[in-house]
Amino acid sequence: MFQVTSKLALTAEHEGLVIGLFEKPEKFSGALAKLDEKFDGQLTELVKSGDISAKLKSNSKLHTFSKIGSKRIWFVGLGKEKDLTFDKLKEAFGKLFKDLKASKLEEAAVYLDSFLTDELDGLEAAHALSEAFSLATYQFKDYKQKSNEPEKKLKSLTVYCEGFEREEIQASLSVGFAFGNGTNSARTLVNIPGNLLTATDMANYAEELADKYDFEIEILDKAEIEKLGMGAFLAVNQGSTEPPKMIVLKYQGKDEWKDVIGLVGKGITFDTGGYSIKTKAGIVGMKTDMGGAAAVLGAMEIIGETRPEQNVVAVIPSTDNMISGQAFKPDDVITSMCGKTIEVLNTDAEGRLVLADAVTYAKHHGAEYLVDVATLTGGVITALGLHTTGAMTNHESLYEQVLEASAEAGEQMWLLPLFESEKERVKNSKVADLNNSPGSEGHALVAGAFIGEFAEGTPWVHLDIAGTATTAKGNDLGPAGATGVMTRTLALFVERFEPIEK
Ligand code: BES
Ligand code: MN
Ligand code: ZN
Repeated sequence: MFQVTSKLALTAEHEGLVIGLFEKPEKFSGALAKLDEKFDGQLTELVKSGDISAKLKSNSKLHTFSKIGSKRIWFVGLGKEKDLTFDKLKEAFGKLFKDLKASKLEEAAVYLDSFLTDELDGLEAAHALSEAFSLATYQFKDYKQKSNEPEKKLKSLTVYCEGFEREEIQASLSVGFAFGNGTNSARTLVNIPGNLLTATDMANYAEELADKYDFEIEILDKAEIEKLGMGAFLAVNQGSTEPPKMIVLKYQGKDEWKDVIGLVGKGITFDTGGYSIKTKAGIVGMKTDMGGAAAVLGAMEIIGETRPEQNVVAVIPSTDNMISGQAFKPDDVITSMCGKTIEVLNTDAEGRLVLADAVTYAKHHGAEYLVDVATLTGGVITALGLHTTGAMTNHESLYEQVLEASAEAGEQMWLLPLFESEKERVKNSKVADLNNSPGSEGHALVAGAFIGEFAEGTPWVHLDIAGTATTAKGNDLGPAGATGVMTRTLALFVERFEPIEK
């Protein structure tokens, strides 16, 4: 997909040449000045008149009438040089690639040096470019019977970069591409409807990942889950005709299996709410209730590509939450794998039940640090809206590391409190150690507090993505639908992880 060339040649033939343009009053310099010469100073005039805009994210297309090798030039407005950030650059590239796609270009070249600032070097720009390409051009293959006309899409991108080693740029492009592709895989899993993505399908998908990236894999079937006593996970599956799967992937990047990071993702393939059934409006969209599992699998794909020196165990409890004569009910008391008993007050609070056993199982596999990701509560949407993932933790410095990764990935998160008051509420049951739904106030907080009871003393961060896993509107870096949120944050967290002194 990406070819790197060190020197920009204006005679080289391309369907389109992409050049970054900062807002600056002075005259063009460097390659832009040379280009301007070819057009007898007309480019300067077009910028002055505003026909070519340097405003952030305004792209201008210019036909070259064979004055240079490329048929067209795309000027990508970058705004003021000092204001350009990695995130903004990614968005600007995203918008560019959407434009190139709309123009049906199959080949293009980018002059990367024109996008660099004092703060953003060629390696970062290369990462931004390839990640944006992958994210922005993502499209879910839907199920419409449309014509079989093959779609035109960008197949080859030449990257000119004069100031950096070609190999280094190539490596950055590969990493950015892996981050984008991992996110897209997560998006696809979330976009697939529940009838076409069962727990068994999810397990098969994990199997493919394991084959491709040489992960160790363990898929527990129903009998094995029963044998291990995962009563909380089993209760949620009880009303289903689809068997549950506990999916475990292991990536070992260190000589010894120590400092193990556990990534746990909620994998509810469809959430009806069970007997505490959802409303007919609230149930639509519940195919996305495996967004946490998708983020974990997407991150594992990135980890498989980038192979960091870390140890990771990914644990995904997968089932749907259905109704039948067999289904679990409010008032039932169930026993989780770690022995804690749970009074079920609401069968729609199923995510925390499957995660309880998954967290316990991650610890059995040696996880010393835990991050769980889940489309867990409508409450987090009330608290933080649709653009911010809600976090909770029992360990501030572990959270710091997750937060830093999220900032670098451009995915917003905000820490919600884990107070004694909520820990008390989840323990308030007359008949069991815990209850799964102590009233609707502060939904997000009690759900997190419940999972924390299973993390116990292990450093743990909980990420509630109910608001951020999907979006009704597309943006520069992707269409409406699944966002693949937290895929990149998890992968970066793993890559940068520093074990915490105990
Ligand atoms: N899967 C839902 C949470 C959810 C809501 C995800 C909206 C995506 C969008 C979860 O299982 C659930 O039903 N949560 C309940 C908990 C309540 C019953 C205590 C909720 O938040 O309403
Ligand atoms: Mn639910
Ligand atoms: Zn759910």
